[in-house]
This record gives sequence, C-alpha cells and structure tokens, in this order.
Amino acid sequence: MELGRNTGSLWHKWTRSGDVVHAGLVITLLIGVWYTQALEVSVGKVHFVEVMNGSSVLLPCTYSSCIGIKNLYFNWQYNDNGTMIKLCEAVIPAEGVEPNVKIYHERVEFVGSSKENNISILLWNVTFEDEGEYTCFAINPKEKKRNHSAIFTLYVVDQLKEVDNTLTIIIVSVLGGVIGLIIIVMVIKAIVVHFLNKAQEKNKECLVSSSGNDNTENGLSGSKADNKASPKA
Ligand SMILES: *[C@@H]1O[C@H](CO)[C@@H](O)[C@H](O)[C@H]1NC(C)=O
Ligand SMILES: *[C@@H]1O[C@H](CO)[C@@H](O)[C@H](O)[C@H]1NC(C)=O
Ligand SMILES: *[C@@H]1O[C@H](CO)[C@@H](O)[C@H](O)[C@H]1NC(C)=O
Ligand SMILES: *[C@@H]1O[C@H](CO)[C@@H](O)[C@H](O)[C@H]1NC(C)=O
Ligand SMILES: *[C@@H]1O[C@H](CO)[C@@H](O)[C@H](O)[C@H]1NC(C)=O
Repeated sequence: MELGRNTGSLWHKWTRSGDVVHAGLVITLLIGVWYTQALEVSVGKVHFVEVMNGSSVLLPCTYSSCIGIKNLYFNWQYNDNGTMIKLCEAVIPAEGVEPNVKIYHERVEFVGSSKENNISILLWNVTFEDEGEYTCFAINPKEKKRNHSAIFTLYVVDQLKEVDNTLTIIIVSVLGGVIGLIIIVMVIKAIVVHFLNKAQEKNKECLVSSSGNDNTENGLSGSKADNKASPKA
C-alpha cells in the first residue's frame, strides 16, 4: 500500500517537474547525433605527409560508425588536376568481413583491415607526379545517400627538407656561437678576476709590510727578505 503510494507520488512529481520534456529533448538530441555521426571517415590528426621520391608511403584512412555498417562502399581517389582518378574500391559486406578490393593503380596496395575499421592504402615507389590530394570516400547504405570523405595530401620532395637542415645548422651555429661567447667571456672574467686578486694581494702585502716594518724604502717582500738577510751575512 505504502510503496504504491510512494511510487505514485514520485511519478506524479516526475511528470510535474518537466523532466518528461527534458527526456524528450535528450532523445531528440540523441537522434540528431545518431544521424549526423552515423559514419565518419578520417585520415587522422595529420592531413598530409612529406616523403622522398622513390620511397613508399601509407595513405591512412579509418571509418567509424555507431549504427554499424552493411555493404559499406569505399574508394580512394587521386585528384589529378581536377579529374578524380579512382585508385581502388571495395565493398565491406559487414563488420569484420574483409573486403575484396579492386585495385586500378599498379603501385597501390590495400593494407587496411575491416577488423580495425582501417581502409588505408600503401603507395609504392613514389614519383614527383604522385604529389597531390588523395580522397578517402565511403558510403554506408544504412544511411540513405549520405557519403563521407576525407582528404590526405602527399608532398614529394627530392631530399627531406633542405630548408629545415639549413635552419637547424643556423640554430646550432648561433647556439654554439652564443655558448662559445659565454665561455670566452667567463674565461676572460676569471682571468681578469685572478689577476685583480693577485694585484690586490700584492697591494695588501705592500700595505702590511710598509705599515708593519715602517720600512718606507721599498714595499716588496723580496727586497724585505734581502734586507733581513744582509745583516746576518
Ligand atoms: C629522386 O629524384 C631525383 C631528381 O629527379 C633523382 O636524381 C633521384 O635519383 C630520385 N631518387 C629516387 C630514390 O628515385
Ligand atoms: C592543370 O590544369 C590547368 C588548367 O586547368 C593547366 O593550365 C595545367 O597545365 C594543368 N596542369 C597539369 C599538370 O596537367
Ligand atoms: C618499387 O621499386 C623497386 C626497385 O626499383 C622494384 O623492385 C619494385 O618492384 C617496385 N614496386 C612496385 C610496387 O612497383
Ligand atoms: C591501418 O593499417 C596500416 C597497415 O597495417 C597501419 O600501418 C596503420 O597504422 C593502421 N591505421 C590505424 C589508424 O590503425
Ligand atoms: C556525395 O554526396 C553529394 C551531396 O550529398 C552528391 O552530390 C555526390 O554525387 C555524392 N557522391 C557520390 C559519389 O555519390
């Protein structure tokens, strides 16, 4: 009896406090998120790579889907001065099922795995003509007509960044110069201080000897010793 009444009043409270409205909002929001983030393709945090000609390069791409995938179609395209050239394409029938990838480029190899939602490709023996934008494209038929893509840019260089090397050399030499200068200054300072101290010591000796012996003839300790030695002899 009491329990029933309590839950009844709780329900009453809940409905009255406007939480139903909140719950409705949350559900709407969730549906919105569900629609917008149903599928995502990504090339990762870094959207470009710089490689030397002749090397091989990984063009990364992954997908994620919170509603799951079925017959997910994907391809890789190279933007050749405006015309998109398809490098490879495949359909992933279901999650974890490896796709049968059709490859249209002699130096492209599919290295992804649907177990890791990975649809990356490898481009072998890069030439300067390979430089440009590579688009990773995907459609999940579970979402009607929505397509997703991410662009990865490839830069091909002859030698890895000569500019960076010169910059490094400049920085290193400037740093070395500054450190060398500091060392030289410190050495000079030490020498100067050393000689100053010696001079001061001599001055002190002079002062002590002159005041102690009241010998105003000369203040040098050597001549003082001579003076002392001469009467003995
Ligand atoms: C890269 O290109 C330069 C200039 O065209 C060429 O001399 C060099 O042999 C190439 N390197 C490779 C590994 O293909
Ligand atoms: C790219 O297209 C422009 C005009 O659209 C043309 O002038 C240029 O020569 C083309 N470059 C290459 C590498 O095909
Ligand atoms: C890449 O170049 C090497 C040596 O030039 C060659 O043996 C290899 O077959 C090439 N790979 C591809 C995929 O073209
Ligand atoms: C995708 O697979 C390739 C080849 O196995 C690997 O090098 C790369 O790190 C993978 N990418 C991600 C994001 O797991
Ligand atoms: C991708 O979607 C856009 C607009 O949503 C559409 O114009 C385009 O044709 C689609 N591309 C493919 C390959 O389906």
